[in-house]
Amino acid sequence: MYYPPEPFRIKVTEPIRLIAGEEREARLVEAGYNVFQLRAEDIFIDLLTDSGTGAMSQEQWASLMRGDESYAGARSFQRLKAAVEDVFGFKYFVPAHQGRAAENILTAVLVKAGQYVPSNMHFDTTDANIRARGGRPVNLVIDEAFDPANLHPFKGNMDLGKLRAFIGKIGAANIPFGMMTVTNNAAGGQPVSMANLKAVAGLYHEYGIPFFIDAARYAENCYFIKLREKDYECKPVREIAREMFSYADGMCMSAKKDAIVNMGGLLCMNDEEIFENVKNELILREGFPTYGGLAGRDLDAMATGLYEGLDESYLAYRLAQTAYLGACINEAGIPTIQPIGGHAVYIDAHAVFPHIPNYEFPGVSLAVEMYREGAIRGSEIGSVMFGCLDPDTGIWHYPKLELLRLAIPRRTYTQSHMDYVVDSLAKIKDRADTIRGYKFTYAPELLRHFTARFEPL
Ligand SMILES: Cc1ncc(COP(=O)(O)O)c(C=O)c1O
Repeated sequence: MYYPPEPFRIKVTEPIRLIAGEEREARLVEAGYNVFQLRAEDIFIDLLTDSGTGAMSQEQWASLMRGDESYAGARSFQRLKAAVEDVFGFKYFVPAHQGRAAENILTAVLVKAGQYVPSNMHFDTTDANIRARGGRPVNLVIDEAFDPANLHPFKGNMDLGKLRAFIGKIGAANIPFGMMTVTNNAAGGQPVSMANLKAVAGLYHEYGIPFFIDAARYAENCYFIKLREKDYECKPVREIAREMFSYADGMCMSAKKDAIVNMGGLLCMNDEEIFENVKNELILREGFPTYGGLAGRDLDAMATGLYEGLDESYLAYRLAQTAYLGACINEAGIPTIQPIGGHAVYIDAHAVFPHIPNYEFPGVSLAVEMYREGAIRGSEIGSVMFGCLDPDTGIWHYPKLELLRLAIPRRTYTQSHMDYVVDSLAKIKDRADTIRGYKFTYAPELLRHFTARFEPL
């Protein structure tokens, strides 16, 4: 498997430390077997998330120094505004401190209790923000997304038949806006094709429903379009991105992913009335519309990062590094979602531990074993994150996939770090039949994977 040389060299290093096995055991007990509760310094390779964990470039560090901390109308805001207009092309935008803050503002302004918001698949914070307003998030991704072995090149696509039927059943008046998540994080970092996105936009618009993109990993999605979709192989990624956003009425974005900053978010739209309401809500919750909960230096680093995230040599390396990790894990006999997604490798925890049922959380078992074996941190994307009680029927629903996500921070780890992860997983596989499931000792109502506590069965 080819590992392309990183298109950068290392100028600053940050030490990482591998603590002893007994110490790791004690840390797991203290953390209630929830890896979110571990201290970062007790982790050797941290693949919990690719969100805000990337390495900033020399240009971004220089941008921090250029940051203008004026309360209103700062120079840094003007730089960000120019970059946002150039890259996305929407008429209006506000910064927010991160993706979920942008989602909070969007749902506060648009969602009323009892309304539905369809998407291919909502990410957990989007899901929770819609629910927090009394709304109902609905996932209408194609069925191939639920078959981990299926090699469909755009497994993030919306099922257009399901979407049409859904709008027909619920009625457009009960759908304040529709969404698409690019790439589809919840089902494996899988891309959406331009043809599908365009058709979804057309369908929403046919019914007068505004269309918003969750653009956290839009640049990775655009590079997949370049690699996999006919007629796009010769197009620059920046043009592909402009085309993608030209079909939408707005977007919300966690800039902690494809803008390669440690903190930041964006909310863009074309509708002036929505923009006026967004600004009022933003002032209440985030701050004045020219800083939106961020320091001037953060706005400046985001402006620089938006362009770096679209750099094609960076994107080629980025997707190849993820593909390398996935291919090596597969070679070790461990199944993952196929094809390998953009930012992460999603291990099929059910396949690794077929004897652990979903209500005993096989993804948690794998997360715990990764830490126990190699002080590696990944995150469960399964029944802890998405299992939910239907308020109408009182029945628990479990997601179709039980996954452990190994998300790769941008420009942070090298090939030998990836090889170490693969070796650790191979050792877990050898003792898989001795591993048990977990049960909750504490679980909050919303976003429970962050703070839940468990005990081994
Ligand atoms: C697709 C998607 N949308 C939204 C978010 C929320 O972004 P943030 O963590 O910046 O609040 C995430 C975070 O991982 C995400 O992956």
